[in-house]
Amino acid sequence: MALLIRNGEVVTVGARLQADLYVENETITRIGKDLDAPPNTEVIDATGKLVFPGFIDPHVHIYLPFMATFAKDTHETGSIAALIGGTTTYIEMCCPNRNDDALEGYQLWKSKAEGKSACDYAFHMSVTKFVKETEAQLRQIVADGTASFKIFLAYKNFFGVDDGEMYQTLELAKRLGVIVTAHCENAELVARLQQKLVAEGKTGPEWHEPSRPESVEAEGTGRFATFLENTAATGYVVHLSCEKALHAALGAKARGVKIHVESVLPHFLLDKSYAERPGVEGMKHVMSPPLRAKHNQAALWNALAGGPIDTVGTDHCPFDTEQKLMGKDSFVNIPNGIPGIEDRVNLLYTHGVKRGRLDMDRFVDAASTRAAKLFGLYPRKGTIAEGSDADLVIYDTNYRGLVSATSHHVNNDYSGFEGMPIEGRPSVVTVRGKVQVRDGKFVGERGRGRMLKREPSHF
Ligand code: URP
Ligand code: ZN
Ligand code: ZN
Repeated sequence: MALLIRNGEVVTVGARLQADLYVENETITRIGKDLDAPPNTEVIDATGKLVFPGFIDPHVHIYLPFMATFAKDTHETGSIAALIGGTTTYIEMCCPNRNDDALEGYQLWKSKAEGKSACDYAFHMSVTKFVKETEAQLRQIVADGTASFKIFLAYKNFFGVDDGEMYQTLELAKRLGVIVTAHCENAELVARLQQKLVAEGKTGPEWHEPSRPESVEAEGTGRFATFLENTAATGYVVHLSCEKALHAALGAKARGVKIHVESVLPHFLLDKSYAERPGVEGMKHVMSPPLRAKHNQAALWNALAGGPIDTVGTDHCPFDTEQKLMGKDSFVNIPNGIPGIEDRVNLLYTHGVKRGRLDMDRFVDAASTRAAKLFGLYPRKGTIAEGSDADLVIYDTNYRGLVSATSHHVNNDYSGFEGMPIEGRPSVVTVRGKVQVRDGKFVGERGRGRMLKREPSHF
């Protein structure tokens, strides 16, 4: 059915206008004033509301075997939580480990999402080793529309690659025109520091941060940048957490390295004191890179506002209380990660735009448009334009609420952002023209999401 959205304030990067949007066959076909509603058109009145392009989360984990357990969401639960929070597309990390076959892993990850996700999705393909069949397999995966890779410099002997494997991945990515995303922490230093701390009897969650200090992340970021510099590949640092690592990335950028930066929601709003809470409360806030000293938040907000931080993702990776308690005897065994997929847009709008830390342009750019451009989805996604997919978020800026695990849709028994205020939420969310969410409730079609095929563009 056709859809007409009347009288909203349409917000895209660089423009705000009062307009109607007409949607047919999954795409936006007209933008203008006082558009007609032909018979059988569903009309939504957006008076007094903002209309954003569907938001894109460039970094999520849905299916994830990790640290002797599995992240809690499925594509059914994760996509509904995403949509309720205004995210209409997510890019999932496809993460077979070093002992898995890459192609089998890729098929497995696809099978978990196909027909299950209610929003559109794509994958970053993790390269967790580089053996003789890797190049041919990655070429096949890119030809299938997955035009971005992921490497982990951390997680030694599991996801982690060594420098030789990083070089081979970047060199191939350059030839294929594929952007490489990277988790930048020095695996050797993390392993050594973990051993040292545990040997000293320092086993609580408060020791997770000291086991992977800022310098360890800055080293990883700097090394990744140096490898990009020497392969001429394009890179994207994921979940950057601190000022030191930011300096390493921006220093490289200043000398012409093609490096982009993502930070994630927790690092803007939470600090290491959350992981220092006693017992399981601390464990709930263990992630990597860890939550940092509070002064880093100002540096991240400034870099986000000014543009050096390109995107804000979530690194959504829920583990419940029982799973977190796997690390009760040693922080080394606490599954790393927290959820965020449902809260990113509302918390960024509230604590960024409403609190004056972020202008509207950068908000839309960092939460949608920039990811679409970097990852080959633009202008199909990430903007409101004639011909773009009708992924739209009609946003109610008058809504007031609190983040809480008692009302969220993520499959997890806690929220890392429990009790934080939100001043705004999506009132209607569409995916390719179909209304999927109304006022915090999923009202749409499960399994509607499609895998988005992307072309390489980073030659
Ligand atoms: O703690 C985190 N970040 N968990 C998910 C895996 C990763 O490193 O992204
Ligand atoms: Zn990571
Ligand atoms: Zn991640």
